[in-house]
Amino acid sequence: MARPADEEAVLQRVLASAKYAGLDEGFVRRIAGEASARFRDQNAAARYARRKLHQAVGAFVTGSLGDAVRACVSAIAAGAPVRDASLAAMRRHASTAERAAVMDAFYRQIEAWCGRPATVADLGCGLSPLAIPWLATSPGATYWCCDVDRGLTGALPALSEPFGVTVVAQAQDLVRPAGLPSAELVLLLKAVTTLEQQRTGAARDVLAALEAPRVVVSLPRASLSARRRYTADPAQVIGSVTADSGYVLAGHATFGDESLYLLARSAR
Ligand SMILES: C[S@@+](CC[C@H](N)C(=O)[O-])C[C@H]1O[C@@H](n2cnc3c(N)ncnc32)[C@H](O)[C@@H]1O
Repeated sequence: MARPADEEAVLQRVLASAKYAGLDEGFVRRIAGEASARFRDQNAAARYARRKLHQAVGAFVTGSLGDAVRACVSAIAAGAPVRDASLAAMRRHASTAERAAVMDAFYRQIEAWCGRPATVADLGCGLSPLAIPWLATSPGATYWCCDVDRGLTGALPALSEPFGVTVVAQAQDLVRPAGLPSAELVLLLKAVTTLEQQRTGAARDVLAALEAPRVVVSLPRASLSARRRYTADPAQVIGSVTADSGYVLAGHATFGDESLYLLARSAR
């Protein structure tokens, strides 16, 4: 039988690229492992791993997300209005850039569904913690968030002071969703497609691992380049993600090119 490519060698080749060196090592190791199990040839395995990493992370981003967060904090410290500084920084990530025009309505809908939670968990967060000034929370709230970009998760806690919310950030691969904190509200915004591209059933497994009464999930209505509308029926996607997850669909709204779904804990 053909021997797979050496996982460690594939991992080191991928990490040699500055673009991916700042990602959570466990996440990159998982992708390198999947690539080396698939190809005998190391070049082919490294190419496949880079393609998967681009699809999961690189495709959404312009420049360093940690720098975007630091720029926001510095601008506020220099006197810029909080929302203006946040919106400017959000433009460095495609998902938050696309949401910028509908911020008020988007977060008012979440408040109508979920009230003012004291604990929020934002999974696969990208730059969405920059939207905390739009999100209704209780005084003294904690906002926990995770992503695979260590530069980003290292920078996010600095938002605590200007936003008046305790921001706790962790580098975590959600395809292995162990140890997620309990929260009154979980946000899983535009992350379902990304997770399902990495492993079929990964988004459902994240839901099944949660201890949260309410989860707000969103799906993009078009591909990142807007070259195609998604053909997958969103209702079907939500149906398969929630099946046997412990959650049921409890609300639906659409803002711009994003569909928002409220999931509520079902009786288990
Ligand atoms: C399409 S973006 C959505 C970002 C943000 N939730 C938003 O809506 O603005 C998907 C995010 O998931 C992150 N991501 C991709 N794969 C991940 C994984 N396996 N574990 C955790 N985060 C992941 C990416 O780095 C990226 O920030």
